[in-house]
Amino acid sequence: MKSVAVVTGGGDAPGMNAAIRAVVRAGLDKGWQVYGVRNGYQGLITGNVVVLGARDVGGIIQQGGTILGSSHCLEMETESGRLKALRTLHEHKIDAMVVIGGKGAQTGAHELAKMGYPVAGVAATINNDLSGSDIAIGVDTALNIALEAIDRLKITASSLQRAFIVEVMGSDCGYLALVVGIAGGAEVIVIPEVETDPEAIATELRDAYGKGKAHALVVVSEGATYNAERLARYFAEHRGRLGFELRVTTLGHVQRGGAPSAYDRLLGTRMGVAAVENLAEGKKGVLMGQVKGEIAATPLEEVVAHPRALDMRLLKLARMLAQ
Ligand code: F6P
Repeated sequence: MKSVAVVTGGGDAPGMNAAIRAVVRAGLDKGWQVYGVRNGYQGLITGNVVVLGARDVGGIIQQGGTILGSSHCLEMETESGRLKALRTLHEHKIDAMVVIGGKGAQTGAHELAKMGYPVAGVAATINNDLSGSDIAIGVDTALNIALEAIDRLKITASSLQRAFIVEVMGSDCGYLALVVGIAGGAEVIVIPEVETDPEAIATELRDAYGKGKAHALVVVSEGATYNAERLARYFAEHRGRLGFELRVTTLGHVQRGGAPSAYDRLLGTRMGVAAVENLAEGKKGVLMGQVKGEIAATPLEEVVAHPRALDMRLLKLARMLAQ
C-alpha cells in the first residue's frame, strides 16, 4: 500500500477534522501519499482530489465542521456514480480510502467495498445511529450544545412557570433526545421509537405543575411523529381544554456547528489512526467505532444491515426520575 484518500460524507459532525488530521498524519507516518477528497462523494465522482501534507491539517483539531467539505450525493447511490468514483481513485493511483461519516456515507463505503475497493469507515454522526460504535464522533459535542440551550431555557421557563418544547436533531433515531432529556432533567421525552399521545403529554405536564414544579420541559426528537411543530399545534388547537400552551425552541443545525469537545477530538483521533492501521494490516470493508471503551472494527456489511438499537432502559429511567 502506497497511498490513501480521506473523504467526509453526509452531515458534518464536530470532531471530523480531528479524524482527518489523524488519517493524514498516520498515513504519512507509514510513508504513504495522502489525498483529501473535497465535498464528499460528489467530489470523488467529479475528481476533486488534492494532496494533503502534515501542515495542511495543522490547526484544525479544534475546528467544527469538516475542512474537506461534504455532501449528500444521490449519484453515489447509483452504479454509474460508484464507477465514476472508482475511476477517480484509480486515476490518482489511490490504493485505499477512509470514509468519515454516518449512515449514508458508510452505505456508500460498503458499496465500494463490495466492488472490491479497500475502504475503512470512521463512525461520525451526531445521530448516534450507527451500529458498530457505542458513540460516534460528534455526539458528545452535540449533546453538550443542546444541554446548554436547555439549561438556559429552564431558567426563563421557571421565572414564568412556562412549559417549553425543545426539538433536537437525530433524524429517525431518538438517542440525542433521550440523553439530552435525561441530562437536562426533562419532564417528558418524545422519541421516534415510541408512539406518543399528546393527551398523555398534557397529563404529565399538568402533573408536573401539580407536584409544585416551576416549569415543564418536553424534549422531542425531530423524527418523532409528534415533532415540536405538531405538538405545539395540537396544544394550541386544544388550548381551552388542556389549559396551557407550549413554547417551542427548535435547536436544528446549531447542534452540529460547535467546536468539538475534548472527547470528540480524542475519539476522532483514535478512530482516524485505527482506520489507517487496519488498512495497513489488510483489513478492509470495516467501520472504526468505539465498543466498550475500545476502538473496534466491525464489518460494514453488519453496520449497514442493522441500525444501532436504542437502549430503552434509559427511557424507563428518565420516566422514573421525572417525578
Ligand atoms: O445526519 C445528521 C443530521 O444532522 C440529522 O440529525 C438531521 O436530520 C440531518 O442531518 C439534517 O440534514 P441537513 O444538514 O442536510 O439539513
